[in-house]
Amino acid sequence: MEYRLGLIGFPIKQSMSPWIHEQFLKKADLKGDYDIFEIDPDGPVDKKISDLKNRQLDGFNVTVPYKKRIISHLDQLDEDARSIGAVNTVVSHNGNWIGYNTDWTGYLTALKHHYPTIFQKKSCSILLIGAGGAARGIFYGLIKEGFTQVDIANRTQSSAEAIAMLGSTKTETAIMTLKDAESRLGHYDLIIQTTNIGMKPNVTATIMSLEQLHQDSIVSDIIYQPIKTEFLHQASKKGASIHYGHTMLLYQAQYAFELWTSKKIPVDDMAEQLKRKLEEGR
Ligand code: ATR
Repeated sequence: MEYRLGLIGFPIKQSMSPWIHEQFLKKADLKGDYDIFEIDPDGPVDKKISDLKNRQLDGFNVTVPYKKRIISHLDQLDEDARSIGAVNTVVSHNGNWIGYNTDWTGYLTALKHHYPTIFQKKSCSILLIGAGGAARGIFYGLIKEGFTQVDIANRTQSSAEAIAMLGSTKTETAIMTLKDAESRLGHYDLIIQTTNIGMKPNVTATIMSLEQLHQDSIVSDIIYQPIKTEFLHQASKKGASIHYGHTMLLYQAQYAFELWTSKKIPVDDMAEQLKRKLEEGR
């Protein structure tokens, strides 16, 4: 069979997903295509999404700004995706669309791969910066993984409070302002930056100062353009360990591909290649 895969979102012309999935198809020795379906948010979005049904895709990824909007077009929704309230992967079974979220597992797998020891200490102190869609998935994953102390710092407190509702009875979550978090940074074992501050072209921006950062901390940024954000630069300067955002991109794709084809492709050797491609600005 030939797999017909793709991506919807806007803007997505620069997306690395076609490259990643074409590599996966090759490695799995499968035939197929991964196409870009850019849908302008100012146009007839719902009609364009419905029209995709005629293309008889086997599956597709969904990115910004349609991770929530896609849900009304689905025939079924996976439980994790329902809790997170966002879908980044759709599997088509005989024309029925089933929605999944692989961003959160992608993030956790990437983190586990690079920093396995943190997963042996579930009571470690974690700070999540930001409370958008990505933060919601990551918070959900951290709780599901059994971490018990996950604080959230965000400009808008109500968004952080809404995410904290996903917590379990075992979780302790303090909601704080960005200023408060900045002064408490030294307290955290793991700091996860999920806002878009520092993303190309605003590469000199950081969400907060890392003055108080402790050198034993791990600092993670989910931005991957640039690969090494100013936030990660400053964390390195402080002697902290850093975790790059492109690894999440790779692992969420690995899970999506597995949902479509039942094949799990090893991604270790692709991380360096992807990093180079992103550095070249392609
Ligand atoms: P994503 O789906 O990629 O997570 P999002 O849902 O738009 O994106 O979330 C963006 C995050 O960046 C939010 O936490 C947002 O803070 P608010 O909830 O207060 O809007 C944060 N963010 C964006 N611009 C910001 C800025 N200039 N200062 C501080 N935080 C900002």
